[in-house]
Amino acid sequence: MERVKTGIVGLDEMLNGGIPAGHQVFLCGGPGVGKTTLGIEYLYRGAKMGERGLFLSLEEEPEAIIRNVQAVCTEWKDFASLVAEKKIVVAGQEAYIHLEKGTTGAGGMQYAVSRVMSSLDALVSENDIKRVTIDSSTIIKMFFESGIEFRRTLMGMLKNLKKRGCTTLVTGESPTLERGELHFETEHFVADGIIMLYNLQQQEKRLPAIEVVKMRSTLHSKSLTPIKITSNGINVYVGEKVY
Ligand SMILES: Nc1ncnc2c1ncn2[C@@H]1O[C@H](COP(=O)(O)OP(=O)(O)OP(=O)(O)O)[C@@H](O)[C@H]1O
Ligand SMILES: [Mg+2]
Repeated sequence: MERVKTGIVGLDEMLNGGIPAGHQVFLCGGPGVGKTTLGIEYLYRGAKMGERGLFLSLEEEPEAIIRNVQAVCTEWKDFASLVAEKKIVVAGQEAYIHLEKGTTGAGGMQYAVSRVMSSLDALVSENDIKRVTIDSSTIIKMFFESGIEFRRTLMGMLKNLKKRGCTTLVTGESPTLERGELHFETEHFVADGIIMLYNLQQQEKRLPAIEVVKMRSTLHSKSLTPIKITSNGINVYVGEKVY
């Protein structure tokens, strides 16, 4: 089976070699756990292996995203040049504006969503994109009054990316930091994979960790595994215990 290596230290080992190609994987966690960083590193490592990636941000403008990455991952000296060469395509703001405009006027929402989807489609085919990160599904959800409409739209977007041969990460916020209080929504059951990021609490300390909750068509680690966000991206300490 063809696999897409995330290139993130330790994560591919947890995934028995990488994400099965074409999968749609949810990357969930509470605020500040590293969802955006992991989503970008997946594209950065891919670009260095010769696979083009698209980062679709519904939260920030491309300039802010690039600035942030450079502030955290200071060792990624070639990040800006990979963006300039379109090996990493960063799209933001515009998609968001389409959505915002869509919230006004009759039938606006549907129009806005179809605009975002067609611009996504165009970006993917024009740039020969193989990896996609959508950051975040929570923002898309905000524009829908009904959960069903949101899911239908998100699924449509993801299905289309799969058809185009992309392997996609979709970030999403989980409202709780506690592992025991998690609950999953329909989109998580439909997704090919779920990776959770945590900032667990132990007395006065916070313990960042990762867990592969599900990954279809492959064996994978089910252990809660410590991580660290470093100046060279995310390190996953396979084989080590969190507590
Ligand atoms: N500009 C920055 N300068 C320094 N550290 C940063 C910066 N941006 C992020 N970090 C560090 O990286 C961690 C992860 O940030 P990241 O944005 O990837 O998390 P996230 O899960 O996407 O957060 P959010 O819920 O806000 O979307 C932060 O908690 C922080 O420690
Ligand atoms: Mg984020």
